[in-house]
Amino acid sequence: MNLEDTIYRRQSIRSYDSTPLDNQTLDEIREFIDNAKELNPNIRWSYEILPTEDISTMMRWKSPHYIAIFSQEKENYYQNIGFIFQQADLFLQSKGIGSCWIGMGNPKNYENPDKNQKPIIIMSIGKSKGDLYRERNQFKRKDLDAISDKSDERLIPAQFAPSSSNTQPWYFTHNDEGAYDLYRIKRGVIRNKMFGKWNRIDTGIALAHLYVANRDSFKFYRKDNPKELKGHFYDGSFEI
Ligand SMILES: Cc1cc2nc3c(=O)[nH]c(=O)nc-3n(C[C@H](O)[C@H](O)[C@H](O)COP(=O)(O)O)c2cc1C
Repeated sequence: MNLEDTIYRRQSIRSYDSTPLDNQTLDEIREFIDNAKELNPNIRWSYEILPTEDISTMMRWKSPHYIAIFSQEKENYYQNIGFIFQQADLFLQSKGIGSCWIGMGNPKNYENPDKNQKPIIIMSIGKSKGDLYRERNQFKRKDLDAISDKSDERLIPAQFAPSSSNTQPWYFTHNDEGAYDLYRIKRGVIRNKMFGKWNRIDTGIALAHLYVANRDSFKFYRKDNPKELKGHFYDGSFEI
């Protein structure tokens, strides 16, 4: 399956065969990630594929490998990580490998050689014990009309994007330049503590789906003086 079709079939996998993936497959995954598109090339980031024993998670389930993701903390770094590694999530699932973003986990016994990069998030990977794919009607997502100022089928790839606790914090408006502005829903103090940083990753994930579905035309930019939208943060603009 190609990456775009995978948008409409993928799901988070939380039950894994404990057998490790073979080295050739791991190398293919690394090659894909090393060539993924960045949202912000100004930010240094890196990753390491680690075995179960080098990860601590709050999850009751385990996978044979985890991608531990690191980044410099500057500009839109959470969003950049979401953008890069959602391409990886689609690649993995397109190749029949299960994956799940895990906010509640950290690498242990591993030090990033670049002291300026901090652990951001991890992703479980491995062979799924159950079905890898689901049908389009099995996705639980907000209606298209609820995520945009005008109903627009071009936003469907973003509508299907995964997000932390399925919060789907994105809202799209059509701007005066014939492009789109992306906003992120503001949370109350308590929910912001929990979801604040993950929701920044989430909007990067939604942008990754829009990029994969519009590879040739996708262009991301940030405005210095974006329109304010009540109850939302501005997270950037894009053409598709
Ligand atoms: C930033 C982020 C963090 C997440 N953290 C966790 C987690 O800690 N544990 C977990 O089981 N799932 C986690 N998820 C998976 C989401 O719960 C899942 O993507 C969402 O419910 C939508 O389901 P789907 O991926 O099957 O489409 C996370 C997803 C994202 C994008």
